[in-house]
Amino acid sequence: MADNYTLSGSNSTDGTELPHVEPTLGTPAVDVRGLNQTAGVFTFDPAFTATCSCESDITFIDGANGQLLYRGYPIDQLAANASHLEVSYLLINGELPSRTQMDQFRESITHHTMLNTSLMNFFDSFHYDAHPMAMMTGIVGSLAAFYHDTTDIHDPEHRETFAHRMIAKIPTIAAAAYKHSVGQPIMSPRNNLGYTSNLLRMMFAVPAEDYEVDPVASKALEVLFMLHADHEQNASTSTVRMAGSTGANPYAALSTGIAALWGPAHGGANEAVLNMLNEIGDASNVPEYIEKAKDKNDPFKLMGFGHRVYKNFDPRALVIRDYCHQVLDHYNNQGNERLFDLARELERVALEDDYFVERALYPNVDFYSGIIYAALGIPTNMFTPMFAIARTVGWSAHWMEMMNDPGTRIARPRQVYTGYTQRDYVPTDKR
Ligand code: ACO
Repeated sequence: MADNYTLSGSNSTDGTELPHVEPTLGTPAVDVRGLNQTAGVFTFDPAFTATCSCESDITFIDGANGQLLYRGYPIDQLAANASHLEVSYLLINGELPSRTQMDQFRESITHHTMLNTSLMNFFDSFHYDAHPMAMMTGIVGSLAAFYHDTTDIHDPEHRETFAHRMIAKIPTIAAAAYKHSVGQPIMSPRNNLGYTSNLLRMMFAVPAEDYEVDPVASKALEVLFMLHADHEQNASTSTVRMAGSTGANPYAALSTGIAALWGPAHGGANEAVLNMLNEIGDASNVPEYIEKAKDKNDPFKLMGFGHRVYKNFDPRALVIRDYCHQVLDHYNNQGNERLFDLARELERVALEDDYFVERALYPNVDFYSGIIYAALGIPTNMFTPMFAIARTVGWSAHWMEMMNDPGTRIARPRQVYTGYTQRDYVPTDKR
């Protein structure tokens, strides 16, 4: 590693002047793009803890103060007043819709919900116990083979059709993946239902019976989807942007986001939280599990705790924690009440423990989302697909923003090479 490249002043390195990039909110960034040419060094930032990969107008997070804004609007105001489709319009277009714009958007989403019949046949090829996230990654990637009217990434109309189509079809795909995993017939979408009511019906209705959507369940999903719709340059969004920066087909780029979201350090955490609570089982076992989480020789972590950006309460967790009470009261479901009480006890003990306090480890949004999903009767392996449905909006908005930016170039980081220096080939009989 190069010696002595210290920052002397806020914008120079070893005498090299580095320009600032000024945000409208938050921390300014030092523009290091010219550094390699002028100073002959790279910047080293594995896991990108100090690196801004782009400029973006979509979402602002203040991790120290627990603030989250979509296009300037605080998340708690949106969750309390808006619908998921309204928030989707906002994230994609930059402004809240007028009544006419909202009607047109709803109409467009409603009429893109069906899947091509040949695509529906793909589900039969998956093994019955395939994880729904595995099916979703494959099916979304294959959308590129069906919708050729959205493959010109330089045409803004194509880009918009792609985003509408993705937001419309992702609930149909997730519900079909679920139906396949339980061996039931896939239910077609219904145009007379709202976004989340339609999803619930596609997941839980069967052709043999009538199905009434519970408005409490539908509203709960609306709230959860708004909270999860975007979160600036998280791992899955950055993955979509990186794949998209090559000029890849947008459906293929979006499928990489689904794959990245699946990991337990990211969107898979909601499933992992519920598994963890079930494993802990009883409040009397909480101290033992807290000790395990603190033990560096034990791989166990408190799932749903900690966040790369929030070093304060995740504002989404605050909305969801209050909402959890309402949902559990409505369903009066003793099993989930017990899980919620256990979660509250775990939260209480952790927040009083020096290890968690010193590291600013607070519950994140997924500490509670799984409990709400469980109360709604959504099976554990569908928790992360629910997140994927919501985040499809953010992925699409970021892909569109990137494609609109004339300065976009292929994302291509460098490395610090630590392997062998050059050596000569050795024939097999001499090794
Ligand atoms: N339990 C116990 N210790 C933890 C936890 C946890 N959940 N999270 C972080 N720590 C510890 C780390 O071991 C580290 O300790 P050290 O300083 O003694 O080495 C310190 O806190 C800092 O943590 P990092 O791992 O460096 O934080 P990072 O930003 O890399 O990771 C992450 C953030 C992945 C969210 C991490 O906190 C984690 O794995 N949490 C559990 C999984 C989870 O809930 N993920 C959901 C994220 S939110 C979302 O995607 C919606």
